[in-house]
Amino acid sequence: MISSGVRFERRALWTLNSNPRTSVYGETLKKFNGSEYRRWDPNRSKLGAGLMRTNREKYLLLPEEGTTVLYLGAGHGTSISHLYDHLCGQDNELGGRLVAVDLASRCLRDLTHLAKTRPGLVPILGDARKHSAWGVLVPRRVDWLFQDVAQSGQVDIFIAACKRFLNIDGIALLSLKAASERWTGEGEEALFASVEDKLRNSGFEIEESIELTGYEDNHVLFVARRIE
Ligand SMILES: C[S@@+](CC[C@H](N)C(=O)[O-])C[C@H]1O[C@@H](n2cnc3c(N)ncnc32)[C@H](O)[C@@H]1O
Repeated sequence: MISSGVRFERRALWTLNSNPRTSVYGETLKKFNGSEYRRWDPNRSKLGAGLMRTNREKYLLLPEEGTTVLYLGAGHGTSISHLYDHLCGQDNELGGRLVAVDLASRCLRDLTHLAKTRPGLVPILGDARKHSAWGVLVPRRVDWLFQDVAQSGQVDIFIAACKRFLNIDGIALLSLKAASERWTGEGEEALFASVEDKLRNSGFEIEESIELTGYEDNHVLFVARRIE
């Protein structure tokens, strides 16, 4: 077990289903000790892949249950749905709040559908770069932020969002897609090293850089702590 809502079983990851008897993206449902879990597919979720790959305790990648978190680039809600199981639980019994921002209206449609049965999930149609349009929905800073926007300028978008929304000492995870960056340097390793440098110079400590190749090629998940 990683937390009451997440379990790691024989190389597979599961979350306690907050909406029993329903699967979100075709994932397997299975009972453990009478409670229904959903299999978290790491090939379809960078957070899931990061949890499979991390060299540290898995819970260090996840927010505390029942807290407020911000997720930028929510997509169709695959990772969001598992994060919700952990953060909020059935009928939000844990009292969490998951603010999920995405630019694409087709994603918002799916997120809004998920939110109908998941109180505490707050989908926002918005641009991660334009805080003034939606920042009012995140009135207090958070202790956990996740970004997976897969667009150029990802690092600057991440730094700006953390400065605006993340508490000092909070944890932020940046899923970086190498192909989305305009990089004229010497290959991917150099790109990933330059991202680490940039984050360090912008007031973050790098806790771990997790290579996702095998699950998501050419992606690294940076786990950073805001220190200033
Ligand atoms: C790789 S997908 C996210 C997948 C999702 N994180 C998951 O694991 O299920 C990237 C998403 O970022 C969104 N996106 C790209 N640029 C954005 C921006 N500036 N602001 C908000 N969302 C953005 C895209 O619409 C897309 O849905």
